[in-house]
Amino acid sequence: MSHYSITTPIYYVNAEPHIGHTYTTIVADTLARYHRLAGDETFFLTGTDEHGDKIAEAAAAQGIEPRLFADRVSGIFQSTWETLDISFDRFIRTTDPEHVRAVQHILRVVHEKGDIDFREYEGLYCVGCERFLTERDMVEGLCRDHERAPEKRTESNYFFKMSRYFGALAEQLDAHPDWIRPERYRNEVVAMLREGSGLDDLCISRPKTRLDWGIELPFDADYVCYVWFDALINYLAGLGYPDGPHWEERWAGVEHLVAKDILKPHGVFWPCMLMAADLPLYRHLNVHGYWNVDDRKISKSLGNMISPLAMREQYSFDAFRYFLLRDMSFGLDSSFTEEALVTRINADLANNLGNLVSRTLNMTAKFCGAAVPAPGEPGPLEQTVQDAAGEAAREVDRRVRAMELHRALEAIFRLVDATNKYLDQRAPWKAAKQEGREAEVATTLYTCCQALRSIGLLLSPFVPEAAGAILERIGATGLEASARLPGDAASWDQLAAGTATTRGAALFPRIESPEADA
Ligand code: MSP
Repeated sequence: MSHYSITTPIYYVNAEPHIGHTYTTIVADTLARYHRLAGDETFFLTGTDEHGDKIAEAAAAQGIEPRLFADRVSGIFQSTWETLDISFDRFIRTTDPEHVRAVQHILRVVHEKGDIDFREYEGLYCVGCERFLTERDMVEGLCRDHERAPEKRTESNYFFKMSRYFGALAEQLDAHPDWIRPERYRNEVVAMLREGSGLDDLCISRPKTRLDWGIELPFDADYVCYVWFDALINYLAGLGYPDGPHWEERWAGVEHLVAKDILKPHGVFWPCMLMAADLPLYRHLNVHGYWNVDDRKISKSLGNMISPLAMREQYSFDAFRYFLLRDMSFGLDSSFTEEALVTRINADLANNLGNLVSRTLNMTAKFCGAAVPAPGEPGPLEQTVQDAAGEAAREVDRRVRAMELHRALEAIFRLVDATNKYLDQRAPWKAAKQEGREAEVATTLYTCCQALRSIGLLLSPFVPEAAGAILERIGATGLEASARLPGDAASWDQLAAGTATTRGAALFPRIESPEADA
């Protein structure tokens, strides 16, 4: 059996879940659901990143302990994903004792190997920010935020000798061109290594006098581990490293999923850390673009964060899921507008898919006594629908594995279109009025029910609730729990004649007046 593990970034607890986190989490959920259906031993990991000064500051601003603050926001992430039926297997927090243990374990291993050293350095420190500033933090020699001159300070810290591994990393990128995908992001990492782009050894500690909200270094109790070296290790800890029963198999099939904002830590720091710890590298790093809302970057102050729970309330979560998965070409940026969302829901879900479902089931009720009819011999037209189902199943499999979920959905909707076209050609509503054409009507509606079976199965990782409803209406309740993709979505003659069907309410009601116009 092959193992498939999928991870999302662990989200910072200084913001609540918005469209960006939701997109990554939905993509991971879709992949996890697809791989479960494909028979892989699947593990889906998500969680929250809770240490560091940003979180300590956010907690201080609310006058509470960082731990309490982190508990609260982490709880919001977890309960949001639960409400949205995200099928994660483990929700990891960087404050979990297992995570702390895993981080300290790796720190020890890498330290003993001689890849961590202690250095004194001098920098420009802003008392307001309580940290050293970089060029980018300053305008005309003053701190951008505090408009005051930083002071020269020396500090000692631990550094991970990451640059030792840059050669090996460049070789890995050469030998496995799709290891980081899509290609544009692989090329960015190659360029980072070639040009240096500020890449050097990595400072991985903070003195407790300056920040104590972190994991203590196992070899120096005056220091805590600084953010990335702590956060990245969640991927191992969450799978059970170092002594859980399955972590090695799970790790061997691990796929990371992140947006382009954190390409450098995942494309450079993390593989170097893994090499230093003598651990195998991840299978792929999958990188997507950014959602902009109304053509602007998402930010708290703009109030354009788009809450997934509000979207669910207004449009159904499946409709929102469908839009995000269908409208973003994986890897590129996309713009979210409520108008585009409504247009998509109406065109694809209410009209195309919704009409096929309601026409098929209404006519099955009317002409076939609300039961799957017994079909006659299929003709060439029936064969085109069957071929379209086989084609869709194969293409969905290929596209999902290549991280082209929008293309997978296109392929499913080609099957929806082909079935709608077939139904129009056969026009059973006319045939049913004529003597002697009962068998043809039965064959037509059987073919449509059979196509809905394929469509329901193929859609189930993408829009699980709606797909479940489609299967239920054709009398195949719960089929998605036992089916195998892609094969079962291509197999024909699977519906037993006589099985009761139900009409049900509109699967995706048409949205008449979008909020955006209000
Ligand atoms: N805590 C770190 C990640 C550590 S992983 C070892 C972090 N957290 S974050 O809360 O800022 O989340 C960043 C991630 O959220 C992105 O990589 C992406 O997955 C998602 N998104 C946040 N905003 C986004 C958009 N506007 N668009 C798409 N996804 C974005 O970085």
